Amino acid sequence: MPIPRSLFCDDDPADHDLRVVAGTWPQQLSGELVLSAPHPDTFGGPHAFFGDGMTYRLSLQAGTNGAPADSFAWRQRRIDSPSARLRAKRPDVFTATMIGSQSPFGHSNAANTAPLVWGDRLFMTWDVGRPSEIDPMNLNWLGDVGHRDQWKVFEAMAPQPVLPMVMTTAHPVVDPDRNVMWTVNTFWGQLHIVRWDGHGDLQMWPIDGAVIPQSVHTITQTRDWLVVGDCAYKFESQVLAGGDRTEPANSTAPVFLIRKDELEATPPGEPVACRHFTVAPEINHYYANYDDTDGITIVFEHTENADIAMTQSAGDLDSLGRPCDPALAGLYGFPMSPDRMTMMVMDPQTTRVVHRAEQREPELLWSRQLNALDWSPEGRANPTLHHTVHQGWHPEAVTQKMLALYGDRVDRSLLPAEPTPPVMATTELGDLRLVSHWELGLDDFPSSPIFVPRDPGAPRAGSSTSGSDPGGHDGWVVLPVMNDAGFRVEVFDAADVGAGPVATLADGAMTVPFVLHSAWMRQAVPAADAGRVRFGDELSRIDELPDDLARAAREVADELDAGVPIP
Ligand SMILES: [Fe+2]
Repeated sequence: MPIPRSLFCDDDPADHDLRVVAGTWPQQLSGELVLSAPHPDTFGGPHAFFGDGMTYRLSLQAGTNGAPADSFAWRQRRIDSPSARLRAKRPDVFTATMIGSQSPFGHSNAANTAPLVWGDRLFMTWDVGRPSEIDPMNLNWLGDVGHRDQWKVFEAMAPQPVLPMVMTTAHPVVDPDRNVMWTVNTFWGQLHIVRWDGHGDLQMWPIDGAVIPQSVHTITQTRDWLVVGDCAYKFESQVLAGGDRTEPANSTAPVFLIRKDELEATPPGEPVACRHFTVAPEINHYYANYDDTDGITIVFEHTENADIAMTQSAGDLDSLGRPCDPALAGLYGFPMSPDRMTMMVMDPQTTRVVHRAEQREPELLWSRQLNALDWSPEGRANPTLHHTVHQGWHPEAVTQKMLALYGDRVDRSLLPAEPTPPVMATTELGDLRLVSHWELGLDDFPSSPIFVPRDPGAPRAGSSTSGSDPGGHDGWVVLPVMNDAGFRVEVFDAADVGAGPVATLADGAMTVPFVLHSAWMRQAVPAADAGRVRFGDELSRIDELPDDLARAAREVADELDAGVPIP
Protein backbone atom coordinates (compact mmCIF):
# COMPACT_ATOMS: atom_id res chain seq x y z
CA MET A 1 0.00 0.00 0.00
CA PRO A 2 2.52 2.61 -1.11
CA ILE A 3 0.49 5.86 -0.97
CA PRO A 4 -0.24 6.63 2.70
CA ARG A 5 -3.95 6.41 3.40
CA SER A 6 -3.48 9.01 6.12
CA LEU A 7 -3.03 11.58 3.31
CA PHE A 8 -6.80 11.93 3.01
CA CYS A 9 -7.78 11.19 6.58
CA ASP A 10 -10.22 13.89 7.70
CA ASP A 11 -9.18 14.03 11.36
CA ASP A 12 -8.63 17.57 12.59
CA PRO A 13 -4.94 18.51 12.43
CA ALA A 14 -3.26 19.27 15.76
CA ASP A 15 -0.20 21.08 17.10
CA HIS A 16 2.81 18.97 18.01
CA ASP A 17 6.29 19.38 19.40
CA LEU A 18 8.73 17.36 17.28
CA ARG A 19 11.94 15.87 18.56
CA VAL A 20 15.15 14.75 16.91
CA VAL A 21 14.84 10.98 16.46
CA ALA A 22 17.91 10.40 14.28
CA GLY A 23 21.12 12.23 13.41
CA THR A 24 22.26 15.59 14.72
CA TRP A 25 20.25 18.75 14.18
CA PRO A 26 22.40 21.41 12.47
CA GLN A 27 22.85 24.23 14.97
CA GLN A 28 22.90 26.88 12.25
CA LEU A 29 19.57 25.80 10.78
CA SER A 30 17.20 28.74 11.33
CA GLY A 31 13.87 30.23 10.44
CA GLU A 32 10.53 28.63 9.74
CA LEU A 33 9.16 26.04 7.35
CA VAL A 34 5.69 27.15 6.19
CA LEU A 35 3.31 24.83 4.35
CA SER A 36 0.03 25.50 2.54
CA ALA A 37 -2.66 22.84 2.56
CA PRO A 38 -6.36 22.24 2.06
CA HIS A 39 -8.10 21.58 5.37
CA PRO A 40 -8.92 17.87 5.59
CA ASP A 41 -12.54 18.46 6.60
CA THR A 42 -13.35 18.97 2.93
CA PHE A 43 -11.54 15.89 1.60
CA GLY A 44 -14.89 14.29 0.80
CA GLY A 45 -15.26 16.58 -2.23
CA PRO A 46 -14.43 15.76 -5.82
CA HIS A 47 -10.92 17.25 -5.68
CA ALA A 48 -8.48 17.21 -2.77
CA PHE A 49 -7.19 20.67 -3.70
CA PHE A 50 -10.26 22.67 -2.78
CA GLY A 51 -10.58 22.63 1.00
CA ASP A 52 -10.32 25.82 3.03
CA GLY A 53 -6.72 26.91 3.21
CA MET A 54 -4.68 26.08 6.26
CA THR A 55 -1.13 26.70 7.35
CA TYR A 56 1.45 24.50 9.02
CA ARG A 57 4.54 26.13 10.47
CA LEU A 58 7.60 24.30 11.78
CA SER A 59 10.14 26.33 13.71
CA LEU A 60 13.62 25.13 12.79
CA GLN A 61 15.25 26.06 16.08
CA ALA A 62 14.46 24.03 19.17
CA GLY A 63 12.71 25.70 22.05
CA THR A 64 11.13 28.51 20.04
CA ASN A 65 7.53 29.55 19.45
CA GLY A 66 6.18 27.64 22.41
CA ALA A 67 8.08 24.35 22.13
CA PRO A 68 10.06 22.88 25.05
CA ALA A 69 13.81 23.42 24.90
CA ASP A 70 14.50 20.09 23.23
CA SER A 71 11.58 20.23 20.77
CA PHE A 72 10.51 21.97 17.59
CA ALA A 73 7.15 23.74 17.34
CA TRP A 74 4.82 22.27 14.69
CA ARG A 75 1.84 24.58 14.62
CA GLN A 76 -1.23 24.63 12.40
CA ARG A 77 -4.32 26.74 11.82
CA ARG A 78 -7.18 27.08 9.38
CA ILE A 79 -7.02 30.46 7.63
CA ASP A 80 -9.97 32.34 9.12
CA SER A 81 -10.75 34.16 5.88
CA PRO A 82 -14.20 35.51 4.98
CA SER A 83 -14.64 32.41 2.80
CA ALA A 84 -13.84 29.99 5.64
CA ARG A 85 -15.97 31.99 8.10
CA LEU A 86 -18.95 32.06 5.75
CA ARG A 87 -18.61 28.34 5.13
CA ALA A 88 -18.46 27.72 8.89
CA LYS A 89 -21.67 29.72 9.37
CA ARG A 90 -23.56 28.31 6.40
CA PRO A 91 -22.01 25.03 5.24
CA ASP A 92 -25.38 24.17 3.71
CA VAL A 93 -24.99 26.70 0.87
CA PHE A 94 -21.46 25.68 -0.26
CA THR A 95 -21.05 23.09 -3.00
CA ALA A 96 -17.70 21.49 -3.79
CA THR A 97 -16.99 21.31 -7.52
CA MET A 98 -13.98 20.45 -9.66
CA ILE A 99 -12.93 24.11 -9.67
CA GLY A 100 -13.53 24.92 -6.01
CA SER A 101 -16.46 25.62 -3.71
CA GLN A 102 -19.32 27.68 -5.03
CA SER A 103 -22.04 29.37 -2.99
CA PRO A 104 -24.58 32.20 -3.30
CA PHE A 105 -21.86 34.40 -1.72
CA GLY A 106 -19.62 33.56 -4.67
CA HIS A 107 -16.51 31.47 -5.12
CA SER A 108 -14.73 30.45 -1.94
CA ASN A 109 -11.12 31.71 -1.80
CA ALA A 110 -9.36 28.63 -0.47
CA ALA A 111 -5.86 30.21 -0.43
CA ASN A 112 -4.47 26.75 0.14
CA THR A 113 -1.76 26.25 -2.48
CA ALA A 114 1.46 28.13 -1.79
CA PRO A 115 3.02 30.42 0.79
CA LEU A 116 4.62 33.54 -0.69
CA VAL A 117 7.13 35.26 1.56
CA TRP A 118 7.70 38.99 1.09
CA GLY A 119 10.20 40.17 3.71
CA ASP A 120 8.45 39.47 7.00
CA ARG A 121 5.02 39.33 5.32
CA LEU A 122 3.35 36.04 4.43
CA PHE A 123 0.75 35.51 1.70
CA MET A 124 -1.16 32.32 0.97
CA THR A 125 -2.18 31.87 -2.62
CA TRP A 126 -4.14 29.85 -5.11
CA ASP A 127 -5.12 30.07 -8.74
CA VAL A 128 -8.78 31.06 -8.43
CA GLY A 129 -8.71 33.82 -5.83
CA ARG A 130 -6.69 36.76 -4.61
CA PRO A 131 -3.57 36.13 -2.51
CA SER A 132 -4.52 36.22 1.18
CA GLU A 133 -2.16 37.74 3.71
CA ILE A 134 -1.87 36.02 7.10
CA ASP A 135 -0.03 36.88 10.28
CA PRO A 136 3.17 34.76 10.31
CA MET A 137 2.97 34.39 14.08
CA ASN A 138 -0.66 33.57 14.91
CA LEU A 139 -1.54 32.49 11.31
CA ASN A 140 -4.75 34.58 11.28
CA TRP A 141 -6.15 36.07 8.08
CA LEU A 142 -5.32 39.75 7.58
CA GLY A 143 -6.72 40.67 4.19
CA ASP A 144 -6.71 39.87 0.48
CA VAL A 145 -4.56 41.65 -2.08
CA GLY A 146 -6.39 44.60 -3.65
CA HIS A 147 -10.07 45.53 -3.38
CA ARG A 148 -12.31 43.12 -5.27
CA ASP A 149 -13.42 45.89 -7.62
CA GLN A 150 -9.85 46.31 -8.86
CA TRP A 151 -9.79 42.73 -10.18
CA LYS A 152 -11.62 41.29 -13.15
CA VAL A 153 -14.14 39.01 -11.46
CA PHE A 154 -15.36 36.05 -13.48
CA GLU A 155 -19.13 35.82 -13.02
CA ALA A 156 -20.15 33.95 -16.18
CA MET A 157 -20.89 30.73 -14.33
CA ALA A 158 -22.47 32.23 -11.21
CA PRO A 159 -22.83 35.63 -9.50
CA GLN A 160 -20.02 36.48 -7.08
CA PRO A 161 -21.55 39.27 -4.98
CA VAL A 162 -19.39 38.79 -1.88
CA LEU A 163 -16.66 36.24 -2.69
CA PRO A 164 -15.12 37.02 -6.10
CA MET A 165 -13.78 34.37 -8.46
CA VAL A 166 -10.49 35.81 -9.69
CA MET A 167 -8.41 33.84 -12.19
CA THR A 168 -4.85 34.48 -11.12
CA THR A 169 -1.82 32.37 -10.20
CA ALA A 170 -0.75 30.53 -7.07
CA HIS A 171 2.83 31.64 -7.78
CA PRO A 172 3.18 35.43 -7.92
CA VAL A 173 6.71 36.83 -7.62
CA VAL A 174 8.22 39.60 -5.54
CA ASP A 175 10.48 41.95 -7.49
CA PRO A 176 13.60 42.58 -5.39
CA ASP A 177 14.52 45.77 -7.26
CA ARG A 178 11.09 47.38 -7.19
CA ASN A 179 9.78 45.79 -3.95
CA VAL A 180 6.45 45.01 -5.65
CA MET A 181 4.43 41.87 -6.29
CA TRP A 182 3.87 40.83 -9.90
CA THR A 183 0.97 38.53 -10.65
CA VAL A 184 -1.68 37.93 -13.31
CA ASN A 185 -5.42 38.17 -13.83
CA THR A 186 -6.78 36.21 -16.77
CA PHE A 187 -10.28 37.05 -17.98
CA TRP A 188 -11.91 35.03 -20.73
CA GLY A 189 -8.38 33.91 -21.60
CA GLN A 190 -6.98 37.43 -21.95
CA LEU A 191 -3.80 37.79 -19.93
CA HIS A 192 -3.42 40.85 -17.71
CA ILE A 193 -0.32 41.60 -15.69
CA VAL A 194 -0.90 42.93 -12.16
CA ARG A 195 1.58 45.03 -10.15
CA TRP A 196 0.98 45.68 -6.46
CA ASP A 197 3.13 47.75 -4.14
CA GLY A 198 2.04 45.98 -0.95
CA HIS A 199 -0.29 48.68 0.32
CA GLY A 200 -2.33 50.57 -2.20
CA ASP A 201 -4.24 49.97 -5.39
CA LEU A 202 -3.39 47.43 -8.05
CA GLN A 203 -2.08 48.39 -11.44
CA MET A 204 -3.18 46.16 -14.30
CA TRP A 205 -2.36 45.98 -18.00
CA PRO A 206 -3.83 43.74 -20.73
CA ILE A 207 -1.11 42.04 -22.75
CA ASP A 208 -1.61 42.47 -26.46
CA GLY A 209 -2.19 39.14 -28.21
CA ALA A 210 -1.58 37.07 -25.06
CA VAL A 211 -4.38 34.52 -24.89
CA ILE A 212 -4.23 31.77 -22.26
CA PRO A 213 -5.84 28.58 -23.62
CA GLN A 214 -5.98 26.81 -20.24
CA SER A 215 -4.78 28.57 -17.09
CA VAL A 216 -1.82 30.25 -15.42
CA HIS A 217 -0.18 28.60 -12.41
CA THR A 218 3.18 30.41 -12.39
CA ILE A 219 4.70 33.77 -13.24
CA THR A 220 8.47 34.08 -13.15
CA GLN A 221 10.84 36.98 -13.69
CA THR A 222 14.24 38.21 -14.70
CA ARG A 223 15.59 41.65 -13.89
CA ASP A 224 13.88 43.14 -16.96
CA TRP A 225 11.25 40.61 -18.01
CA LEU A 226 8.16 38.79 -16.76
CA VAL A 227 7.50 35.30 -18.11
CA VAL A 228 4.01 33.77 -18.18
CA GLY A 229 3.17 30.38 -19.67
CA ASP A 230 -0.10 28.56 -20.21
CA CYS A 231 -0.28 25.75 -17.69
CA ALA A 232 -1.68 22.26 -17.98
CA TYR A 233 -4.80 22.61 -15.87
CA LYS A 234 -7.57 22.06 -18.37
CA PHE A 235 -11.12 22.99 -17.46
CA GLU A 236 -14.09 21.68 -19.37
CA SER A 237 -17.51 22.95 -18.27
CA GLN A 238 -19.23 19.57 -18.17
CA VAL A 239 -16.98 18.40 -15.33
CA LEU A 240 -18.77 20.88 -13.06
CA ALA A 241 -21.85 18.68 -13.32
CA GLY A 242 -19.83 15.52 -12.73
CA GLY A 243 -19.16 14.77 -16.39
CA ASP A 244 -15.97 13.24 -17.74
CA ARG A 245 -13.22 15.09 -19.53
CA THR A 246 -13.23 14.80 -23.28
CA GLU A 247 -9.74 16.15 -24.08
CA PRO A 248 -6.35 15.75 -22.43
CA ALA A 249 -4.40 18.79 -21.29
CA ASN A 250 -2.73 20.64 -24.15
CA SER A 251 0.61 19.16 -25.11
CA THR A 252 2.16 22.54 -25.99
CA ALA A 253 1.95 25.88 -24.26
CA PRO A 254 2.38 29.50 -25.31
CA VAL A 255 4.91 31.40 -23.21
CA PHE A 256 4.79 35.19 -23.15
CA LEU A 257 7.68 37.50 -22.28
CA ILE A 258 6.74 41.01 -21.17
CA ARG A 259 9.21 43.80 -20.42
CA LYS A 260 8.76 45.37 -17.00
CA ASP A 261 9.78 48.83 -18.22
CA GLU A 262 7.22 48.69 -21.02
CA LEU A 263 4.55 47.99 -18.41
CA GLU A 264 5.70 50.85 -16.22
CA ALA A 265 5.82 53.26 -19.17
CA THR A 266 2.21 52.45 -20.09
CA PRO A 267 -0.84 53.82 -18.27
CA PRO A 268 -2.64 50.96 -16.46
CA GLY A 269 -5.46 49.61 -18.58
CA GLU A 270 -3.63 50.27 -21.86
CA PRO A 271 -2.30 47.23 -23.76
CA VAL A 272 1.36 46.24 -23.55
CA ALA A 273 3.24 44.15 -26.11
CA CYS A 274 4.76 40.72 -25.53
CA ARG A 275 7.07 38.22 -27.22
CA HIS A 276 5.46 34.87 -27.90
CA PHE A 277 7.20 31.47 -27.65
CA THR A 278 5.85 27.92 -27.72
CA VAL A 279 7.14 25.18 -25.42
CA ALA A 280 6.41 21.48 -25.01
CA PRO A 281 5.57 19.27 -23.31
CA GLU A 282 3.13 20.74 -20.83
CA ILE A 283 4.21 22.92 -17.90
CA ASN A 284 3.08 24.13 -14.47
CA HIS A 285 6.21 25.29 -12.64
CA TYR A 286 9.09 27.20 -14.24
CA TYR A 287 11.80 29.49 -12.91
CA ALA A 288 13.85 32.15 -14.68
CA ASN A 289 17.32 33.20 -13.60
CA TYR A 290 16.91 36.75 -12.32
CA ASP A 291 20.16 37.78 -14.01
CA ASP A 292 19.35 38.17 -17.71
CA THR A 293 22.63 39.71 -18.79
CA ASP A 294 23.39 36.72 -21.04
CA GLY A 295 19.85 35.92 -22.07
CA ILE A 296 16.58 34.88 -20.54
CA THR A 297 17.26 31.50 -18.96
CA ILE A 298 14.29 29.51 -17.72
CA VAL A 299 14.10 26.07 -16.10
CA PHE A 300 10.83 24.32 -16.94
CA GLU A 301 9.65 21.46 -14.75
CA HIS A 302 7.42 19.78 -17.31
CA THR A 303 4.35 17.87 -16.17
CA GLU A 304 4.19 15.56 -19.16
CA ASN A 305 0.99 13.51 -19.27
CA ALA A 306 0.04 14.37 -15.70
CA ASP A 307 -3.47 15.64 -15.09
CA ILE A 308 -4.10 17.50 -11.88
CA ALA A 309 -7.57 18.45 -13.16
CA MET A 310 -8.64 14.78 -13.16
CA THR A 311 -9.21 12.98 -9.89
CA GLN A 312 -10.08 9.43 -8.99
CA SER A 313 -13.48 8.57 -7.60
CA ALA A 314 -15.80 5.68 -6.87
CA GLY A 315 -15.99 3.22 -9.75
CA ASP A 316 -12.65 4.15 -11.30
CA LEU A 317 -10.04 1.53 -12.14
CA ASP A 318 -6.34 2.16 -11.64
CA SER A 319 -3.61 1.66 -14.22
CA LEU A 320 -3.43 -2.05 -13.40
CA GLY A 321 -7.19 -2.46 -13.76
CA ARG A 322 -7.86 -2.70 -10.03
CA PRO A 323 -10.76 -0.80 -8.41
CA CYS A 324 -9.46 2.49 -7.01
CA ASP A 325 -9.33 2.58 -3.22
CA PRO A 326 -12.03 4.92 -1.84
CA ALA A 327 -9.37 6.12 0.63
CA LEU A 328 -7.67 7.88 -2.30
CA ALA A 329 -10.83 9.52 -3.70
CA GLY A 330 -10.02 13.05 -4.83
CA LEU A 331 -6.36 12.26 -5.62
CA TYR A 332 -5.22 14.00 -8.81
CA GLY A 333 -3.76 12.17 -11.80
CA PHE A 334 -0.07 11.44 -11.41
CA PRO A 335 2.24 11.66 -14.45
CA MET A 336 2.05 8.87 -17.01
CA SER A 337 5.47 9.80 -18.41
CA PRO A 338 8.85 10.07 -16.68
CA ASP A 339 9.73 13.45 -15.26
CA ARG A 340 11.35 15.85 -17.66
CA MET A 341 13.07 19.14 -16.98
CA THR A 342 14.42 21.51 -19.61
CA MET A 343 16.42 24.69 -19.50
CA MET A 344 15.83 27.14 -22.30
CA VAL A 345 17.57 30.39 -23.12
CA MET A 346 15.09 32.55 -25.00
CA ASP A 347 15.98 35.41 -27.31
CA PRO A 348 13.27 38.06 -27.22
CA GLN A 349 14.59 39.68 -30.41
CA THR A 350 14.13 36.63 -32.60
CA THR A 351 11.62 34.81 -30.32
CA ARG A 352 13.76 31.71 -30.74
CA VAL A 353 15.17 29.35 -28.16
CA VAL A 354 18.94 29.62 -28.48
CA HIS A 355 20.06 27.05 -25.93
CA ARG A 356 18.40 24.07 -24.37
CA ALA A 357 19.41 21.38 -21.91
CA GLU A 358 17.20 18.52 -20.87
CA GLN A 359 16.95 16.06 -18.00
CA ARG A 360 15.05 12.83 -18.37
CA GLU A 361 15.75 9.83 -16.14
CA PRO A 362 13.08 7.20 -16.91
CA GLU A 363 14.75 4.70 -14.58
CA LEU A 364 14.66 7.03 -11.62
CA LEU A 365 12.50 10.09 -11.74
CA TRP A 366 8.72 9.71 -11.68
CA SER A 367 5.89 11.85 -10.36
CA ARG A 368 7.76 15.01 -9.45
CA GLN A 369 6.04 16.79 -6.63
CA LEU A 370 7.69 20.06 -5.75
CA ASN A 371 11.09 21.68 -5.35
CA ALA A 372 13.48 23.54 -3.07
CA LEU A 373 15.26 26.61 -4.42
CA ASP A 374 17.34 29.40 -2.92
CA TRP A 375 14.73 32.17 -3.20
CA SER A 376 17.02 34.96 -1.98
CA PRO A 377 17.63 37.66 -4.61
CA GLU A 378 21.25 36.52 -4.80
CA GLY A 379 20.19 32.90 -5.19
CA ARG A 380 17.74 33.72 -7.97
CA ALA A 381 20.38 35.78 -9.77
CA ASN A 382 22.88 32.94 -9.87
CA PRO A 383 21.21 29.64 -9.04
CA THR A 384 23.51 26.63 -8.69
CA LEU A 385 21.45 23.64 -7.55
CA HIS A 386 17.78 22.77 -8.05
CA HIS A 387 16.34 20.22 -5.60
CA THR A 388 13.24 18.24 -6.53
CA VAL A 389 11.03 15.62 -4.90
CA HIS A 390 9.72 12.75 -7.01
CA GLN A 391 7.02 10.46 -5.64
CA GLY A 392 8.03 7.47 -7.70
CA TRP A 393 5.76 5.50 -10.02
CA HIS A 394 2.44 4.69 -8.34
CA PRO A 395 0.16 2.48 -10.43
CA GLU A 396 -2.71 3.33 -8.09
CA ALA A 397 -2.39 7.06 -8.82
CA VAL A 398 -3.14 6.71 -12.53
CA THR A 399 -6.62 5.69 -13.69
CA GLN A 400 -7.79 3.83 -16.76
CA LYS A 401 -9.80 6.95 -17.62
CA MET A 402 -6.58 8.95 -17.79
CA LEU A 403 -4.80 6.35 -19.88
CA ALA A 404 -7.72 6.23 -22.31
CA LEU A 405 -7.97 10.00 -22.56
CA TYR A 406 -4.24 10.48 -23.24
CA GLY A 407 -4.06 7.49 -25.61
CA ASP A 408 -0.99 7.50 -27.83
CA ARG A 409 0.60 10.38 -25.93
CA VAL A 410 1.60 7.87 -23.25
CA ASP A 411 4.45 5.50 -24.07
CA ARG A 412 3.24 2.55 -22.03
CA SER A 413 6.50 0.69 -22.55
CA LEU A 414 8.09 3.20 -20.16
CA LEU A 415 5.68 2.53 -17.30
CA PRO A 416 7.54 0.59 -14.61
CA ALA A 417 6.25 -2.90 -13.87
CA GLU A 418 6.41 -2.25 -10.12
CA PRO A 419 6.13 0.84 -7.93
CA THR A 420 9.40 2.76 -7.70
CA PRO A 421 10.62 4.52 -4.57
CA PRO A 422 10.32 8.26 -4.03
CA VAL A 423 13.50 10.21 -4.67
CA MET A 424 14.95 13.46 -3.36
CA ALA A 425 17.07 14.69 -6.27
CA THR A 426 19.57 17.48 -6.86
CA THR A 427 20.18 18.86 -10.33
CA GLU A 428 23.02 21.12 -11.35
CA LEU A 429 21.81 24.12 -13.26
CA GLY A 430 23.74 24.75 -16.40
CA ASP A 431 23.60 21.27 -17.86
CA LEU A 432 20.67 19.85 -15.83
CA ARG A 433 22.84 16.95 -14.74
CA LEU A 434 21.43 14.86 -11.91
CA VAL A 435 24.27 15.20 -9.44
CA SER A 436 22.84 13.53 -6.38
CA HIS A 437 19.79 11.64 -5.23
CA TRP A 438 18.43 9.84 -2.20
CA GLU A 439 15.80 7.13 -2.32
CA LEU A 440 13.12 7.06 0.35
CA GLY A 441 10.95 4.10 1.34
CA LEU A 442 8.20 2.75 -0.89
CA ASP A 443 5.64 3.67 1.77
CA ASP A 444 6.91 7.25 2.09
CA PHE A 445 5.17 10.21 0.50
CA PRO A 446 7.68 13.07 0.55
CA SER A 447 6.09 16.46 0.20
CA SER A 448 7.23 19.98 -0.56
CA PRO A 449 10.85 20.67 0.48
CA ILE A 450 12.55 23.98 1.26
CA PHE A 451 16.11 25.22 0.94
CA VAL A 452 17.53 26.99 4.00
CA PRO A 453 20.75 28.98 3.53
CA ARG A 454 23.52 28.16 6.00
CA ASP A 455 24.08 31.69 7.28
CA PRO A 456 21.25 34.01 6.20
CA GLY A 457 22.06 37.65 6.61
CA ALA A 458 25.78 36.98 7.02
CA PRO A 459 27.92 40.10 6.48
CA ARG A 460 28.93 39.00 2.97
CA ALA A 461 25.47 37.87 2.04
CA GLY A 462 23.82 41.03 0.79
CA SER A 463 20.14 40.56 1.48
CA SER A 464 18.72 39.19 4.72
CA THR A 465 17.50 35.95 3.12
CA SER A 466 20.76 35.10 1.39
CA GLY A 467 23.62 33.10 2.77
CA SER A 468 27.23 34.07 2.14
CA ASP A 469 27.45 31.55 -0.73
CA PRO A 470 24.05 31.73 -2.45
CA GLY A 471 22.58 29.56 -5.17
CA GLY A 472 21.13 26.49 -3.47
CA HIS A 473 24.19 24.42 -2.46
CA ASP A 474 25.34 25.98 0.81
CA GLY A 475 22.72 25.11 3.39
CA TRP A 476 20.08 22.47 3.96
CA VAL A 477 17.13 20.90 2.26
CA VAL A 478 14.28 20.29 4.73
CA LEU A 479 11.76 17.71 3.58
CA PRO A 480 8.41 16.78 5.19
CA VAL A 481 7.62 13.09 4.67
CA MET A 482 4.14 11.60 5.08
CA ASN A 483 3.87 7.97 6.14
CA ASP A 484 1.07 5.99 7.78
CA ALA A 485 3.53 4.87 10.46
CA GLY A 486 4.31 8.47 11.40
CA PHE A 487 5.15 11.85 9.89
CA ARG A 488 8.77 12.97 9.91
CA VAL A 489 10.92 15.84 8.73
CA GLU A 490 14.24 14.99 7.09
CA VAL A 491 17.14 17.43 6.84
CA PHE A 492 19.78 17.00 4.12
CA ASP A 493 23.02 18.81 3.41
CA ALA A 494 22.05 20.67 0.23
CA ALA A 495 25.47 19.98 -1.26
CA ASP A 496 25.15 16.23 -0.69
CA VAL A 497 21.56 15.07 -0.69
CA GLY A 498 22.74 11.63 -1.76
CA ALA A 499 24.44 11.12 1.61
CA GLY A 500 21.00 10.87 3.18
CA PRO A 501 19.44 12.84 6.01
CA VAL A 502 21.69 14.39 8.60
CA ALA A 503 18.81 14.68 11.06
CA THR A 504 15.19 13.58 11.41
CA LEU A 505 12.33 15.05 13.45
CA ALA A 506 9.18 13.15 14.43
CA ASP A 507 6.56 12.81 17.13
CA GLY A 508 5.66 9.17 17.41
CA ALA A 509 2.87 7.98 15.15
CA MET A 510 1.45 11.43 14.43
CA THR A 511 0.38 11.74 10.78
CA VAL A 512 -0.09 14.79 8.59
CA PRO A 513 -2.60 14.91 5.74
CA PHE A 514 -2.01 16.08 2.20
CA VAL A 515 -0.19 19.41 1.83
CA LEU A 516 0.81 21.53 -1.14
CA HIS A 517 3.66 24.03 -1.47
CA SER A 518 6.12 25.14 1.19
CA ALA A 519 8.36 28.13 1.77
CA TRP A 520 11.14 29.18 4.09
CA MET A 521 10.82 32.32 6.23
CA ARG A 522 13.87 33.67 7.99
CA GLN A 523 11.68 34.49 11.02
CA ALA A 524 8.08 34.58 12.16
CA VAL A 525 7.12 37.94 13.63
CA PRO A 526 3.69 39.49 14.20
CA ALA A 527 2.39 41.35 11.16
CA ALA A 528 2.77 45.11 11.01
CA ASP A 529 -0.03 47.48 10.01
CA ALA A 530 -0.25 47.77 6.23
CA GLY A 531 -3.49 49.52 5.33
CA ARG A 532 -5.22 46.32 4.24
CA VAL A 533 -8.64 46.06 2.60
CA ARG A 534 -11.35 45.14 5.12
CA PHE A 535 -13.94 42.54 4.19
CA GLY A 536 -16.51 45.04 5.44
CA ASP A 537 -15.45 47.39 2.63
CA GLU A 538 -16.34 44.80 0.01
CA LEU A 539 -20.05 44.37 0.76
CA SER A 540 -21.50 46.84 -1.76
CA ARG A 541 -23.47 44.03 -3.45
CA ILE A 542 -24.73 42.41 -0.28
CA ASP A 543 -28.31 43.27 -1.22
CA GLU A 544 -28.17 40.64 -3.96
CA LEU A 545 -28.23 37.98 -1.24
CA PRO A 546 -31.28 36.61 0.57
CA ASP A 547 -31.70 38.26 3.97
CA ASP A 548 -30.30 35.37 5.99
CA LEU A 549 -27.12 35.17 3.91
CA ALA A 550 -26.68 38.94 3.90
CA ARG A 551 -26.92 38.82 7.67
CA ALA A 552 -24.25 36.13 7.80
CA ALA A 553 -21.92 38.24 5.64
CA ARG A 554 -22.39 41.27 7.90
CA GLU A 555 -21.72 39.13 10.96
CA VAL A 556 -18.48 37.89 9.40
CA ALA A 557 -17.39 41.46 8.65
CA ASP A 558 -18.14 42.47 12.24
CA GLU A 559 -16.37 39.43 13.68
CA LEU A 560 -13.27 40.11 11.59
CA ASP A 561 -13.20 43.74 12.70
CA ALA A 562 -13.59 42.67 16.33
CA GLY A 563 -11.01 39.87 16.09
CA VAL A 564 -13.51 37.18 17.06
CA PRO A 565 -11.96 33.76 16.42
CA ILE A 566 -13.51 31.45 13.84
CA PRO A 567 -15.61 28.79 15.63
FE1 LIG B 1 2.36 25.11 -7.79
